[in-house]
Amino acid sequence: MTFDETSFAVPAFSVPTFATHEPIDGQRWSTWPATMPSERGPQPWPAWLVTSAGAFDTELGIVKTGKEADVHLIERAVPDDPSRTVLLAAKRYRDAATSDFHRSARYQEGRRMRNTRDSRAVARGSAYGRQVAAGRWAYAEFETLCRLQTLGLPVPYPVQVHGTELLMEFIGDGMTAAPRLAQQRLDGAELAGCFDQVVTIMRALAAAGLAHGDLSAYNLLVHHGRVVVIDLPQVVEVVSNPSGMDFLQRDCVNICDWFTRRGFECDADELFGELVAEAFG
Ligand SMILES: Nc1ncnc2c1ncn2[C@@H]1O[C@H](COP(=O)(O)OP(=O)(O)O)[C@@H](O)[C@H]1O
Ligand SMILES: [Mg+2]
Repeated sequence: MTFDETSFAVPAFSVPTFATHEPIDGQRWSTWPATMPSERGPQPWPAWLVTSAGAFDTELGIVKTGKEADVHLIERAVPDDPSRTVLLAAKRYRDAATSDFHRSARYQEGRRMRNTRDSRAVARGSAYGRQVAAGRWAYAEFETLCRLQTLGLPVPYPVQVHGTELLMEFIGDGMTAAPRLAQQRLDGAELAGCFDQVVTIMRALAAAGLAHGDLSAYNLLVHHGRVVVIDLPQVVEVVSNPSGMDFLQRDCVNICDWFTRRGFECDADELFGELVAEAFG
């Protein structure tokens, strides 16, 4: 009898080893090893990060479907090592024809766009171009998350970006996502406390020359009383983007309208003035 590796049979009573595991339906090998250093989150990596090439990603369900992206819950875990397991939010950008190219063109004003073959494909809206565009959104959001994470803003830790998928820290308890600010019933003191945190976030963004661009009570999560800002693909440079000031003002109006309707009086013009001074200061 000849002996080669493929003819090894797994003994029936062996302890399962790493090599005996294969991903089943709803699983894949961890995509971490396939990412380049620039596609990984800022160092030092958090202690909970699972970087093992032997880890699996398991689909646990949909957190939320949206127009431009769907957010899924996944578990990244090393089989047979319960200490190496983490829940992650996977934001998957759609490459569907429905995603909003007009809006995207406006957001991209002032950003450097080279006239590459990819850019022309995006402009044409071909299937390949749509894929490229979806990937650009994922990378834009990832890069912003990295920048804000490094600045110390309360954002989900950006784990990696790969193709059209962004993986980040899952903000929640167990498998339950933290509620959006919009879903919260808050009393006076809690409202004031949240407003304070939101303004601190906006001020830090403005100091970095940025406006969120789509800030609302739907893109703020409240986790154990702490406000976390999400949904950042369209973050704009306040100064260099011709629409930057409009976006900043709209963010101020959205936030102040929401808090005022809930019974916490605040003034959008005043906030806008303060943030403009911060951005140009
Ligand atoms: N890191 C995260 N942790 C927990 N829930 C998240 C996370 N990121 C997104 N979500 C949930 O998914 C929803 C959609 O994500 P978001 O980034 O706002 O995308 P969209 O463009 O669809 O609005 C959020 O309102 C929130 O409920
Ligand atoms: Mg959102």
